[in-house]
Amino acid sequence: MASLQSAAGRAVTRTADLYGRVSRFIPPMEWPAYAEDVDAILRLKRERNAVILAHNYQTPDIFHCVSDLVGDSLALARMAQGSDADVIVLAGVHFMAETAKLLNPDRTVLISDTRAGCSLAESITPADVRALKAANPGVPVVVYVNTSAAVKAECDICCTSGNAVKVVESLGVPRVIMIPDEYLAQNIGAQTGVEMITWPGHCEVHERFTPGDVAEFRDAHPGVTVLAHPECPPNVVAVSDFSGSTAAMIDFVATRKPPKVMLLTECSMSDNVAVQYPDLEFVRPCNLCPHMKRITLGNLRRSLETMTHEVTIDPSVAVRARRAVERMLAVK
Ligand code: 13P
Ligand code: SF4
Repeated sequence: MASLQSAAGRAVTRTADLYGRVSRFIPPMEWPAYAEDVDAILRLKRERNAVILAHNYQTPDIFHCVSDLVGDSLALARMAQGSDADVIVLAGVHFMAETAKLLNPDRTVLISDTRAGCSLAESITPADVRALKAANPGVPVVVYVNTSAAVKAECDICCTSGNAVKVVESLGVPRVIMIPDEYLAQNIGAQTGVEMITWPGHCEVHERFTPGDVAEFRDAHPGVTVLAHPECPPNVVAVSDFSGSTAAMIDFVATRKPPKVMLLTECSMSDNVAVQYPDLEFVRPCNLCPHMKRITLGNLRRSLETMTHEVTIDPSVAVRARRAVERMLAVK
């Protein structure tokens, strides 16, 4: 017991500077429990020549204390492409780890809980895509990054919420099949004027926001600036002040510094951004993504200790899925 306590004490000392970043979310009494995992993860990353890429929805302890690079889905894909680490641990959901593996076939890519899925990725199968293509011959298929590699393999070009407008415009056609997020497709259709053939997939986090929520919060918090992720229904985007990917929302906050801001997205986003902008007031509501929350400090540590769970993709699928992702990354 005594030696356990002193190990925890040493970990607290070694991580003291990191605690300042998360002190508004983690009470001092609870930090020793976090500190041991943080300290172990930092050591294991050095030993394994590993990097942790974390999505903006990861909890502040992961986002601010153990991640090497953080960002939206597009940034994570670009970072994965540029990485020279032997091991990439993706602190995010499974499709993000698959994208990293597609771009790094020779590196080890790990995800610490294979159950970290996504309601959008689960909404569509490769057979569904083939049926859509058969019903709409010659219409290009734009696939949201929130899909399995097997679905991407059936499609022409990938997109994220950060580059969907550019990707759709790059095709120069009046009509596209955009799958699987119906609301994202409708929002991008409205921005580009391109006709969208959609699929009824929805994000279980963003579909729950309503125009009524926005009206209520505007009444309760006069002057609040409302930012909505484009996975929100179009009638929610219509009553918001700005819509963009998670990275675009962070940029908006960083450059415009709205004194009172509401991010219509996953809860950890506001927590993570609030650390950087303590003078701004972040008005909730937010919704939790249960899939993102499967990733914890504890399982990240185990993942690096045991080198699990390794992400693999059938090579015949990977070659076609990679084409769709690389075509997206080539769009400027
Ligand atoms: P971003 O690419 O905007 O980070 O979105 C990813 C996601 O899963 C949103 O729900
Ligand atoms: Fe999928 Fe929605 Fe969770 Fe993003 S927030 S990972 S789109 S379920």
